[in-house]
Formats: sequence, structure tokens, C-alpha cells
Amino acid sequence: MQTKTKLQGERITLKKITPTKNNASEFFKVVEQNREDLGIWLPWVDEMLTVEDALQNLLETEKQTREGYKKEYGIYLKNKLIGTVDAFNIRKPDKSLEIGYWISKEYRRKGYVREAIAIFEKELFKNFHRIQIKCDSENKNSIEFAKRCGYKLEGELRDAFFSKKFNSFRNNIIFSKLKTDTF
Ligand SMILES: CC(C)(COP(=O)(O)OP(=O)(O)OC[C@H]1O[C@@H](n2cnc3c(N)ncnc32)[C@H](O)[C@@H]1OP(=O)(O)O)[C@@H](O)C(=O)NCCC(=O)NCCS
Repeated sequence: MQTKTKLQGERITLKKITPTKNNASEFFKVVEQNREDLGIWLPWVDEMLTVEDALQNLLETEKQTREGYKKEYGIYLKNKLIGTVDAFNIRKPDKSLEIGYWISKEYRRKGYVREAIAIFEKELFKNFHRIQIKCDSENKNSIEFAKRCGYKLEGELRDAFFSKKFNSFRNNIIFSKLKTDTF
């Protein structure tokens, strides 16, 4: 199942971030500008401390994409990277996967991520049946966002993961959307 390198929206473009030094610098810069906020909810942020780490992250994503375990796109606004959407925990036999998303603080509440997810979903539902969103039970932005995008609340997993940031076990809220929910 081929992953397209570019998906066009009305205002934003989703593009695969090829692992070059320039792209790694741009990726690192936007993470660095949002480190404090993103780091609360996205554990990988604390591991990305240099441009070289960002490059390794992009190389790993490229490898996992080639092997069929991941799909990731940068959200670009006028050629500027402002966030990403990704699909992981891809289970081909079940036609199911999980998605993640983040956007730079200065571009929030403008509908860019909703636009990105709508394009991404359309592509994913060509080959998959179930899309899951899993977020920390206190991540209000992500919970409200998932609801706004039409995801159905399935429940809460107690002490589902250990957060180094909070130094405690955390609950996860699970949402899903099925291909048959939308088409
Ligand atoms: C979650 C996140 C991607 C949402 O980004 P965003 O720019 O607000 O998304 P959009 O503008 O496309 O959609 C916003 C919609 O989500 C909902 N929403 C988002 N934040 C909200 C909040 N704090 N309160 C109420 N509703 C909220 C609203 O329905 C909103 O629509 P509205 O602006 O018309 O009211 C962003 O907050 C983020 O990057 N958070 C940090 C990373 C993260 O937590 N990722 C998810 C990990 S599971």
C-alpha cells in the first residue's frame, strides 16, 4: 500500500518530511519553539534535543514507513512546517491504526489540524476500517479536538501508561472513527 508523498488541502498541504539536514533543522526549530507545551503530552519531544536527534527521528520514520509500520506527514502552511499528523500501531489484518497530531502553538484554533486530519483520514480509509485516537485523560485540547472531528468516545483505560513528565501512571481516553461512520 503506497504512501503518497503529498496530500493537498484548501489551506494546508501535507507532505512527507524527507530526512535531509534542512528538513531536520526546520523540524527541530518548530519543536524547540513549542518544547514546553508539546513535551507534556508527547514523550518523544524530550528525546529530541539536537538537530541530529531530529534527523534520526526522520530517518526512523522513513524506515518504519518503508516497513509499513508508520505514515507521517508534515503540516505545511505556505511551505512552512507548522505541525505533523501520523499513523502508527498499523495492524493490516484488522485494517486498524492509531493517529497522532500536534501543531505549533501560534497556529492553534484555526482549523488547520482539522483540515489535516480530514485529508489524512480520506487517504487512510481507502485501505483501513478503523482509526483510533488515544490521549491522556487530562489533555483537554486533544479530547475536544477528537470530539470535534467526529470521533466516538469508547472509554477510559486506567493507569494505561507511565509518564516521566508527571512521574505517575496516567489514564488514556480512547476514541475511534470507522470507515462506515463517515461514508
Ligand atoms: C490537539 C491540537 C492538535 C489541536 O489543535 P488546534 O489547532 O486547536 O486544532 P483545530 O484548530 O484544527 O481544531 C480545533 C477544534 O478542536 C476543539 N478544541 C481544541 N482545543 C480546545 C480547547 N482547549 N477547548 C475546547 N475545544 C477545543 C474545538 O472544537 C476546536 O474548534 P473551534 O476552534 O472551532 O472551537 C493542539 O492543541 C496541540 O497541538 N496540542 C499539543 C499536542 C497534543 O496534545 N497532541 C495530541 C496528543 S494525543
